[in-house]
Parts: sequence; structure tokens; C-alpha cells
Amino acid sequence: MDASAPILLFDSGVGGLTVLTRLREVLPGAPVIYAADTAGLPYGEKTEAEIAARVAGLLGVLTERYKPRLACIACNTASTIALGMVRDVLAIPIVGTVPAIKPAAAMTRTGTIGLLGTGATIRQAYVDNLEAEFAADKRLVRHAAPGLVTAAEAKLRGERVDPAAISAAVAGLVERAGPDLDTVVLACTHFPLLADELTKAFGPGVRFVDGAAGIARRVAHLVAGQPLERSRPDFAVFTGPVPAAECLAPYGLDHTERI
Ligand code: DGL
Repeated sequence: MDASAPILLFDSGVGGLTVLTRLREVLPGAPVIYAADTAGLPYGEKTEAEIAARVAGLLGVLTERYKPRLACIACNTASTIALGMVRDVLAIPIVGTVPAIKPAAAMTRTGTIGLLGTGATIRQAYVDNLEAEFAADKRLVRHAAPGLVTAAEAKLRGERVDPAAISAAVAGLVERAGPDLDTVVLACTHFPLLADELTKAFGPGVRFVDGAAGIARRVAHLVAGQPLERSRPDFAVFTGPVPAAECLAPYGLDHTERI
């Protein structure tokens, strides 16, 4: 194993940075390449076939070019649709990101759980299966919140977050879930970037859960015992629009490239 072989983190945009933050906590010395398919953003509004083709194709190209030791699909939409297919075609370990329904079911006291995700994620059989396995005795209310993806991208760029986008997403879920809602699964890696805004909008009675810390632990487990050496600064690659370097510097990403 080449000690400088990176861990590849992949998302449609900047959402995967919430997973990178957790990964830095458990593996501060690991070399990382962050890749975002910003030419394909948002995935949540695309068909299953489009998402599967983009994700499998791009991960193939990225793996060929950067020779990662492991790839993490830091995107619920891409994972719930294409994880199996990507695992079939790539020879490296692939870690996916799936909605944190299991911990939410353990946390809720009222039994009413909300799930905020993209339109593509909330309709997946993968989510049906997680619900059947871990929350069959709970009420899981799914709500698509594409406006939060746009808001999170804007926030990362240092732009103003549109309060109407936050309140529309929150009101849409609250209206359908009712007053018993006490736990919300942030089933899109973009959404923890809006934790402050969402906490304010939902109020003190609602707790949030996302999968980032669990994914980071899984990656750390899979590379345990391997030599890890950052022989060059970590960086980010984009298929389309590239955020300003200063927005990515806090995540330990030194520069950006286009692929
Ligand atoms: N960050 C992605 C997710 O976790 C999706 C954002 C998008 O491209 O719609 O679902």
C-alpha cells in the first residue's frame, strides 16, 4: 500500500465537506482528494439512470487518475441509487452514505421522525428498506427539500442564505408530520451545513441526526493499520463550477482543479 494513496470523497457539490469535517477528526493525517460533480448538481432533481451513469462513470475516471485506496460517496442521493453498481465495477472499497434512520429510531421519544432529503433520495427503495428494518414501529415522514441544497451551496460560497428557502422546507415537513415531530434525519450531506438555520427554524423540540460521524468511523476502520502519509497538500477537483479557494481552505483543501 502506497502511504500517500488518498481517500477519495465524492459528492455532487459541497455537501460532502460535512463528511470531510468528521473524517479529519478521526484521521487527521490521511491524504484526501475531494471531488464534486458540480456540472451535474443537483443530483436530487435527476433521474435514477442519469445519476447512476454520472456517478459510476466519474468514479471510474477519478479512480483511474488518482489511484485512491478507498472511495467514499459522501452523498445520500448517489449512494442510495448507485452504491451497488459502483461496488460492482471498482476494485477498491467503497463507503456509502445512507439516511441515518437507525439512530433516529433510537433517539425519538414520540415515534414521529422526519426525513429531509432530495427528491431522488426520498423515493428510493433503499430508504423503504431502512424504514422497514429500523423504523417499522415509528412514523417516518419524508420530505424533499431541494431548496436546502441551493442554500447550502450559497452559504459555503459566503453568500446570503435565503430565509424563505429554510422556512419553506421546514414548514413543508412540520405541516405533514404534525406536533409530535421530535427527530429529523438530515438525509442529504449538504444539510448539516445549515445546522444553525435549521435549529432556529424547527425550534428547541427537534433534534437532528446525520450519518457523517458514522461514515468517518467506517472509513477509519477500513484503513486501520495502513500507512498514511500526506506527501502533497490535499486538494479538490470539480467537473463544473469551482468555489473560491478561500471557501475550501477551512476544510484543509489547498487548491482546486477542473476535471
Ligand atoms: N449532497 C447530496 C445528498 O447527500 C445531494 C445534493 C444534490 O445534488 O441534489 O443527497
